[in-house]
Amino acid sequence: MSQLLTEEIAIGLKGRDFIGLADYTPAEVRYLIDLAIELKGKQKAGEIYHPLKGKTLGMIFEKSSTRTRVSFEVGMYQLGGHALFLSRNDLQIGRGETISDTAQTLSRYLDGMMIRTFAHRTVIELARAATVPVINGLTDLSHPCQALCDYQTVLEHKGRLEGLKVAYIGDGNNMVHSLMMGAAKLGMHISVATPEGYEPDADVVAMTKASATETGSRIHVCRDPKEAIADADVIYTDVWASMGFEAEQKERELAFAAYQVNEDLVRYAKNDYLFMHCLPAHRGEEVSEGVIDGKQSIIFDQAENRLHAQKAIMAAIM
Ligand code: CP
Ligand code: NVA
Repeated sequence: MSQLLTEEIAIGLKGRDFIGLADYTPAEVRYLIDLAIELKGKQKAGEIYHPLKGKTLGMIFEKSSTRTRVSFEVGMYQLGGHALFLSRNDLQIGRGETISDTAQTLSRYLDGMMIRTFAHRTVIELARAATVPVINGLTDLSHPCQALCDYQTVLEHKGRLEGLKVAYIGDGNNMVHSLMMGAAKLGMHISVATPEGYEPDADVVAMTKASATETGSRIHVCRDPKEAIADADVIYTDVWASMGFEAEQKERELAFAAYQVNEDLVRYAKNDYLFMHCLPAHRGEEVSEGVIDGKQSIIFDQAENRLHAQKAIMAAIM
């Protein structure tokens, strides 16, 4: 990317929300990944870099988190700023204050907000009323911060993204929605296998396919895990029962029984496949212990890159 184009993209990102990868052009997504790698290099070299000095990020959590909470908080600190953890139960939202009033009030104190919530609409409402950038830290519909760091991780391991094939096996959930959109933006191919009744959202698939035409990416949704995984460069899975779906655990275990990523299944991928999982994982359910703890698993590189990719997002938009 030329210096001039990079500068133009950087200007265009200032003040933006980060709600989904659909709102970003292919060049902007790639810019954020390159910035993440650059900031990671600075951090590893011990270079002090404080573009967000004196700024505060509010982090609203309506669901549990290990990685998102810690990586955003540490990321803000490393960028010279400060992060505030705001649990739904401690906010007046928990007692019925509207999202809009909350957004307008918090905008008077904060320089940015991150929210992890159930309904995607909540993030949209927050962003609509807020006067500072809003970052989606996971909703029932999507998890764009995770997809961004995941593709950064693939790039670091494979040296390229365009033309690589990702196979996603399991639940058609928030994670696969963002992985599909990311693949479409980055010119990667993605093949998704889910049991009947657990397909990715049809509107998201349609939107993703429309984006894919821009980059030559191929998006494929099917039933058969072997078909999806054939010749894959990257194998990805996620829990069978996401947060908010715990009550369905037993029925999902039955529905997903043939969708475990294990030694038998990975034989159909390329020999040098990478195994990925956003974590937290359930060994013995969606993935066998041998695969997730095997040599080709890069799950902790992904987890680490949450820090670097989110620093890139915050540095770019805040
Ligand atoms: N992958 C991820 O978002 O992890 P947490 O739920 O721990 O934040
Ligand atoms: N699909 C999972 C992702 C967790 C990071 C969930 O929503 O629980």
